[in-house]
Amino acid sequence: MAIDDSPQPVPAIRDARLEDIPAIVAIYNEVIANTTAVYREAAVPSSEREAWWRERCSRGFPVLVAVVGGEVVAFASFGDFRAWPCYRHTVEHSVHVRADRRGRGIGSALVRALVPIAASLGKHVLIAGVDAENGGSIAMHQKLGFERVAHLREVGRKFDRWLDLVFLQRTV
Ligand SMILES: CC(C)(COP(=O)(O)OP(=O)(O)OC[C@H]1O[C@@H](n2cnc3c(N)ncnc32)[C@H](O)[C@@H]1OP(=O)(O)O)[C@@H](O)C(=O)NCCC(=O)NCCS
Repeated sequence: MAIDDSPQPVPAIRDARLEDIPAIVAIYNEVIANTTAVYREAAVPSSEREAWWRERCSRGFPVLVAVVGGEVVAFASFGDFRAWPCYRHTVEHSVHVRADRRGRGIGSALVRALVPIAASLGKHVLIAGVDAENGGSIAMHQKLGFERVAHLREVGRKFDRWLDLVFLQRTV
């Protein structure tokens, strides 16, 4: 197999805009359909991601996209970890990269970009909830300084099997 040694374009990272919703939906629905990275089964309509984006923006939470060659190829965001007041300094993030752009540093760049935003919002801890089968995401988070702190057994069910959820955390 030929090895692609050509330099990878650096993604530009910026806040998501309304016109990015179709790309975000396409990335998200591919992850829902083909992986256990998201614990939901049905494809979402654009209206669901638009409402999510609006809600995150209205709460002052970031929704970031990575753009390569003018195309949105990944997105990341964080929101409440648990919606009780005393968790207010803790947030849970998500990050999804388009299938054909994985393994090129884009997911890492997005999570790295979330950290100073969390700091500027007075957050103290970032949490990643990752399916235990998702070795790539666990490895990426550990590389970014997240510590694996919990393993919940059989809390999810998808594709006719039980799913374990791993939590990793990083102090901002
Ligand atoms: C998981 C995901 C966000 C990682 O983003 P990415 O851009 O593919 O990852 P990166 O290129 O930044 O990888 C950073 C490090 O993570 C590790 N890693 C990433 N993908 C990996 C894989 N498939 N297998 C093993 N290690 C992997 C490697 O250590 C890598 O560093 P290296 O390239 O120096 O070896 C991305 O693959 C993705 O969107 N996957 C599908 C959806 C998903 O799992 N979302 C996360 C839900 S928690």
